[in-house]
Parts: sequence; structure tokens; C-alpha cells
Amino acid sequence: MSEIVINNLHAGIDGNEILKGVNLEVEQGEVHALMGPNGTGKSTLAYVLMGHPKYEVTDGEIIFKGENILELEPDERARIGLFLAFQYPVAIPGVSVANFLRTAINARRKADNPADKGIPIPEFRKMLKEKMDLLKMDHAFAGRYLNEGFSGGEKKRAEILQMATLQPEIAILDETDSGLDIDALRIVSDGVNALRSEDLGVLVITHYQRILNYIKPDFVHIMLDGRIAESGGPELALTLEEQGYDWLREKFNPVSA
Ligand SMILES: Nc1ncnc2c1ncn2[C@@H]1O[C@H](COP(=O)(O)OP(=O)(O)O)[C@@H](O)[C@H]1O
Ligand SMILES: [Mg+2]
Repeated sequence: MSEIVINNLHAGIDGNEILKGVNLEVEQGEVHALMGPNGTGKSTLAYVLMGHPKYEVTDGEIIFKGENILELEPDERARIGLFLAFQYPVAIPGVSVANFLRTAINARRKADNPADKGIPIPEFRKMLKEKMDLLKMDHAFAGRYLNEGFSGGEKKRAEILQMATLQPEIAILDETDSGLDIDALRIVSDGVNALRSEDLGVLVITHYQRILNYIKPDFVHIMLDGRIAESGGPELALTLEEQGYDWLREKFNPVSA
């Protein structure tokens, strides 16, 4: 079983500490939801996990498949099976969704086996069609230029299709905080539910409690002020829905409450 283990992770930007000792483990086959109010460091954690160069890790470790990956570049992390869906994906005019995916798949295959010649095109087409059917996507989507003129929902679809075809062992999906529509939320949820398997571990990051109406996570974690303040099962999401975050703030930091 592959797993990602985050130990006492401290990280920040320009000398400002944002993550203040995060501990979290996600195993293949599990779906974890990471929730919490705006500005508590959820997206920072996602970026640090993928190795965004802007963030500085000052303490702790990220172990993936038994190896500390802190020194690996983002593309190296992706090639060994980590996947991060970006909140604000960039457009690549002139590169179709299909071509982009084939290039990415081949990079992953080469990481596993340097002699690999790449996925044969017929096999790729068949696989892409299967994944698109699984996600109830129109096949024409594969021929469009990546993210160019895509609606918010289509960007999410492209992301989920990437996850489906790259077959990462651990995927981190960071939901936008800026009030993206319920459609996008549904696309992500339906995608995660369709792809749920023993081979995929997912960390869904969101500040919307309502995503939990669509995805039933095995574990729920709540981040406050750069730390995981509480972890539990799906019942924790219900408590959140009823009581919001205030009870946790008081429990976590009685002085400032
Ligand atoms: N590029 C940045 N430069 C400076 N501060 C940042 C930057 N990105 C995030 N922060 C700060 O880090 C904190 C956590 O942000 P973020 O990880 O985006 O939280 P969340 O995703 O939980 O809303 C916030 O106080 C935010 O202002
Ligand atoms: Mg965020």
C-alpha cells in the first residue's frame, strides 16, 4: 500500500510561517476531507505537498512510498504517483486535452521504466474513451485545447480526467474558495466517487461543508491556524454542519476565544 505521511510539517512564505506542525496520513484506498475556515493554510498544504517553489519548508517531512520527497521537484513527485489538481489551471493553447494527457502518461511510464517507449496510440485512445465514459464526458472534449475558453466546470472536468488517466496513487484536490458554482462541486464529487478504488487515496480540500453531501469521506480533518485541530470519521462533518467551527476554535485556542 502506498501512503503519504506528513510529519510535523512547518512551511511558509517570505519568513511568515503558515503551516505550524501538520500531521496527516493518507493511504491508498482512503478518502480524506480536509476542511477549515478560509486562510488557515489548506491550499498552502496542497502546494507544499506538490513542491511549489514559492513555499519554504522549515521543519518536518513528507514521506511518500517510504521516501522523503521534500527534495523532489513537482514533476518528479507527479511521476512517482502524486497528483495535485490546481485551483486555477492554466490554458495551453495549441495542445489538446488528449495530447497533454498522453505526454503526461508517458512521463509517468518512463519514471517506472526508463526503457518504456510510451503508450501505443490505440491503447491510449481506448483507455481515454473508457475513462471519459466512466466520467460521463463527451468524447469531443479530448480534442479541445487544454483549458482554452473552458468554463469553470470544464476546467474541473479536465482535472478529473487527468486524475482518471494518470492513475495516481494519491490525489490532492483543492477546491476553490471563491464561490465557484455547485456544478463544479458536483463534477469533482462525481469524479471522485467514480474513481474511488483500493488503488487511489484522495485528500479533498474544501471549505464548503456541502461537498460532504456528495462525497462520503472515510476521514475528516479540520485545519485551524496551520494545524490539524481535529480528526474524525464522517460524523465530524455532521458536527461541523450543525455547529460550524466556533466550538473547535474555543477548544483549540481557549485564550483567544
Ligand atoms: N503567496 C502568499 N503570500 C503571502 N501570504 C500568503 C500567500 N498565500 C497564502 N498566504 C497566507 O497564508 C495563509 C493561508 O492561506 P491559504 O493556504 O490559502 O489558506 P486556505 O486555503 O485555508 O484558505 C493566509 O493568511 C494567506 O494570507
Ligand atoms: Mg484555499
